[in-house]
Amino acid sequence: MVSANANQLRYDGRVVIVTGAGAGLGREYALLFGSRGAKVVVNDLGGNFHGQGKSNAADNVVAEIRAAGGTAVPDYNSVVDGDKIIQTAMEAFGRVDILINNAGILRDKSLARISDEDWNLIQDVHLKGSFVTTRAAWPIMKRQNYGRIIMTSSNSGVYGNFGQANYSAAKLGLVGLANTVAIEGEKNNIHCNVIVPTAASRMTEGILPEILFNELKPKLIAPVVAYLCHESCEDTGSVIESAAGWATKVHFVRGKGCILRTSIGDVVSPEYVQKVWSKVTDMSNATHLNAIGEASLTLVDVLEKLRDGQNNEQSITDTYKFNFKDVILYALGVGASVTDENDLRFLYENHPDFSALPTFFILPGLLSVMGSNLTASAISHANFDLTNILHGEQYIELFDSVPTEGMLTTTSSVIEVLDKKSGALVITQSDSYDDNGTLIARNQSSTFVVGAGNFNGKTKPGPEVKPLVPNPKRSPDASVQIKTNRDQAALYRLSGDLNPMHIDPSFSAIAGYKIPILHGLCTMGISVRSVLKQYGDDDSSYFRCAKVRFSKPVLPGQTLRIDMWKEPNNRVCFRTVVVETNTEVLSGAYVDLKKIVVKPNMTAASNLQSDAVFAGIKERVAENEAKAKAINAVFLYKITDSGKVAKEWVLDLKKASVYEGPVQGKADTTMTISDSDMVDLALGKLQPQTAFMKGKLKITGNIMLAQKLAPLLKTEAKL
Ligand code: NAI
Repeated sequence: MVSANANQLRYDGRVVIVTGAGAGLGREYALLFGSRGAKVVVNDLGGNFHGQGKSNAADNVVAEIRAAGGTAVPDYNSVVDGDKIIQTAMEAFGRVDILINNAGILRDKSLARISDEDWNLIQDVHLKGSFVTTRAAWPIMKRQNYGRIIMTSSNSGVYGNFGQANYSAAKLGLVGLANTVAIEGEKNNIHCNVIVPTAASRMTEGILPEILFNELKPKLIAPVVAYLCHESCEDTGSVIESAAGWATKVHFVRGKGCILRTSIGDVVSPEYVQKVWSKVTDMSNATHLNAIGEASLTLVDVLEKLRDGQNNEQSITDTYKFNFKDVILYALGVGASVTDENDLRFLYENHPDFSALPTFFILPGLLSVMGSNLTASAISHANFDLTNILHGEQYIELFDSVPTEGMLTTTSSVIEVLDKKSGALVITQSDSYDDNGTLIARNQSSTFVVGAGNFNGKTKPGPEVKPLVPNPKRSPDASVQIKTNRDQAALYRLSGDLNPMHIDPSFSAIAGYKIPILHGLCTMGISVRSVLKQYGDDDSSYFRCAKVRFSKPVLPGQTLRIDMWKEPNNRVCFRTVVVETNTEVLSGAYVDLKKIVVKPNMTAASNLQSDAVFAGIKERVAENEAKAKAINAVFLYKITDSGKVAKEWVLDLKKASVYEGPVQGKADTTMTISDSDMVDLALGKLQPQTAFMKGKLKITGNIMLAQKLAPLLKTEAKL
């Protein structure tokens, strides 16, 4: 007898029929069941794998089971006569608990060469054989109020395989058969599941590569089938793939789809289908449906929407699930770096102040609008694709303390469609709520659809659309330079915007760019991050809202300069410029903070004593604008502290403007001097000529111009 340990899954008293059990997979199933107490009917016609001839393969397996102490009988019927196999089981053992429909043959030929005989034989053995055998076992299982049935499918059916049209059709037919058998068997505790095996057998010899063939032992699949047939297994209607000591469930999934008309009376046109085809075939939000009823429910929902006159996706609701990894990936995508210790709070989930960058919360709105049909529905009068839409402006507002993980439910709708003549401007608003229904973020996003204008539409937005704020006329109060990485777009796109324009050179070339461009929202993320660093203490909770216009694209690897102006009411206006080309890429932009905290290292720099000298110069320049302009030159001061340049000041007298560096444009004269010497110079303790002779003042560029500065330098400022 086979020894049983207490935890072993057993089949004592169960009668198992394995069809095609004379070889390959069936043989392994039969041996395993036989070793675990089941009474086994070893069915096999004993033909070759084309279904020809007969042999005593079943007898050999029966002998093996018996030799190991098990119970088994042979059966030589074809599965096409399935009722006879069931009869064998009833005569030998009086019941049927488990039926494994496994017998199979191949008649591989390319479609045109498949004869009727090849077709019929394959359907007969696989599909009809499984059907008739199952049908014969059915009343017995119902009476017993117990049954476990396996159908054997194949990846050739699931995915197709060249030269196997007949076999593929039969094998996927078995999945359909199992789906319904599972439903009909439910009330009688009859389960039906599908196995999709890949194993070395005479059937796959010469088909599977040798290296795989040797490792794909049928023995490794038998335990999966055995478990599926155990009374403790609750699965029914499952498709399980297994090979090489690995198994998984396989699902059909269905995309979100797209409504193709706007009201119940509307027709569907092939042109509209073509227009929204990418939405029809978008599988990014695909789900598995458990029952046909669920499929019908969607249709009821669609019809209700159409009846209510709810235009095709005028408003959509989506969920966005995220955790610390998404938050960190986004921060890396917009250039946060461990080389700046203040950035660690955006990059390390165990940091005491771990938080998401404010612009992270653009994602839920963006992704829901991108995955929807909102823009297409809003301008159904025109055709467009990914190459003629431009992201125009973006606004984000945060309301409550922002989470670092969880699920946000976002409702998006079109709030304006403006006729800009050369195109249409579609403005969507997305409100994202947390699980408690608290509004976390509001995004407004405007998309310019080139060529979709001139439809006699509204030209100006309503008051709910947040406007841009022009940059102040004066020189910026602070400027920060950030070099983007050549891989910036490749990294940023992993946060969800997978538009090939940002990664695929052939795609961006069509749009006329020499390399894939950076996402505008990445430039925005980088810029808002630097404003928060400069004026918001790197604290996301100080963020209120931000708005930008995307005026020109950025190429990954270019250097961004973010010019900032500190304005009343905790507003920081900014613009972003590509340094290499001196091109403005973000315009009319601002960040509103709850509180302004000037960057600590700026404060340290502000502590330079010479700051007061420049403050004095600034005042005098403002008072004597005309005189200053008469000098008509740009001076750059590099102020050193402990031998290093600690700060730069620019006296742009052409514009009568004094500001902290870096210099915008070109300096005529550059002077390098230490902080204390600069103070001494201003106090008259150190003469410029002496300083120059002693090497305390280094001058490059136009030296003569430096002399014109003397009157401005004299200071009465409190030093
Ligand atoms: P196999 O050829 O080693 O075993 C099949 C057995 O079925 C043979 O012993 C054969 O005599 C028997 N049989 C054929 N026609 C019969 C009929 N009309 N009535 C009774 N017995 C009959 O093949 P293997 O690989 O063990 O295949 C078992 C099952 O798994 C088949 O249904 C096959 O289509 C399926 N399958 C196998 C894959 C593999 O990688 N081996 C891949 C996908 C599916």
